[in-house]
Amino acid sequence: MGATIVVGVAGGIAAFKAVTVVRELERRGHRVIVVPTPASLAFVGRATWEAVSSAPVHTGVFDAGGANHVEIARMADLILVVPATADLLARVRAGRADDLLATTILAATCPVVLAPAMHSAMWGNAATRNNVEVLRERGLTLIEPASGALGSGDSGVGRLPEPEVIVDAAEGLLAHRHKTDASASGHDLAGTRVVITAGGTREPLDPVRFLGNRSSGRQGIALARRASARGATVTLIVANIEGSLLSEGGEIVEAPTAADMERAVGERLEDTDVLIMAAAVADFRPKVVAETKIKKDPRDESAPTIELERTPDILAGAASAPRRPRIVVGFGAETGTIDEVLARGRAKARRKGADLLAVNAVGRGRGFGDVENTLHLLDSAGGLVDVISGTKQQLADGLLSHVAGILRNMES
Ligand code: CTP
Repeated sequence: MGATIVVGVAGGIAAFKAVTVVRELERRGHRVIVVPTPASLAFVGRATWEAVSSAPVHTGVFDAGGANHVEIARMADLILVVPATADLLARVRAGRADDLLATTILAATCPVVLAPAMHSAMWGNAATRNNVEVLRERGLTLIEPASGALGSGDSGVGRLPEPEVIVDAAEGLLAHRHKTDASASGHDLAGTRVVITAGGTREPLDPVRFLGNRSSGRQGIALARRASARGATVTLIVANIEGSLLSEGGEIVEAPTAADMERAVGERLEDTDVLIMAAAVADFRPKVVAETKIKKDPRDESAPTIELERTPDILAGAASAPRRPRIVVGFGAETGTIDEVLARGRAKARRKGADLLAVNAVGRGRGFGDVENTLHLLDSAGGLVDVISGTKQQLADGLLSHVAGILRNMES
């Protein structure tokens, strides 16, 4: 069945390709409302949009006979911005409401897909990189621009992908969208004390070196934001997360090593209803931490051998503690076929004793990152409870809905 899709058009040279995107969406049976920014009309005029789309075209919040942004946002099953310029990304990131498109995005509760297109220098600029990171973290889907000839005559990354790629991504998101959107879940975690760990621990070797991992902490941050939006009192225990990602958050406790994290979690166990271990905690750490920098010996070519020891398993420890949180949730990344992933996940769920284990089947994505993330949720006996797909925010909401459901069952 066709969806109602708002196609936003920002003011870039690639705006002409949005005409093909609109036509293709309509050909596939969707209803399209085009919302161009005023600047984009210099590239493709209002008459074109009125000719190709099924609804009247407005650009400003106060247009004569004007469309109401809240009404448009409510009708939309999806908002797709083609092209999203650097300026549009900055405005959406800042929560601006200075034209009808920005205001509609601000008022929307449906998924938002942005297809950026700009000169590669603008795409690579630190301000744009940061805007992209924050928008993705908030759950918006950004399609990676393609590489090739740019409007300026240069060539590089920044080209709008082909219209079919954009339409496929939009339809993929509509199909995979999990039903538990934010507006449906309300304040179902009100009064619940939730501790979430995020990021990756770094285990020191000497004063300047460490053993670490690549966890960005995004899933844990998305969980903290959604739990807090759903009424929980949230403590986020973070290991080595880039400051900009933490711009909105409740109580934040820094725990850079496995030992710090064990302490920070342990101190809160008795006063916590729900513990979610989303952090990538090192399984091993150097047995001895050198007090001064380990130096090479200029007289020989030998390299030191570093002896490792196991770190405490914080998740298993919390799950078996005498005064444990009512719900303990763990994460596990597994590779292989789906049967292998589930078998390993089952074994891990039983071993750790967590009430829920969110198994991330890694390495199977089709490329649009946010669109294709999937979590298999297992119970403590290893039974499959749910399969959730979507952006990190949607995964967070799906997982939190199960947590809220278990809490409700415990209370009734
Ligand atoms: N975890 C923990 N303490 C550790 C290591 C991991 O609490 N010392 C938690 C993580 O936060 C995560 C889960 O346990 O919730 C991951 O389990 P782990 O056994 O480390 O899984 P992987 O590293 O994914 O897998 P492997 O079994 O391959 O080690």
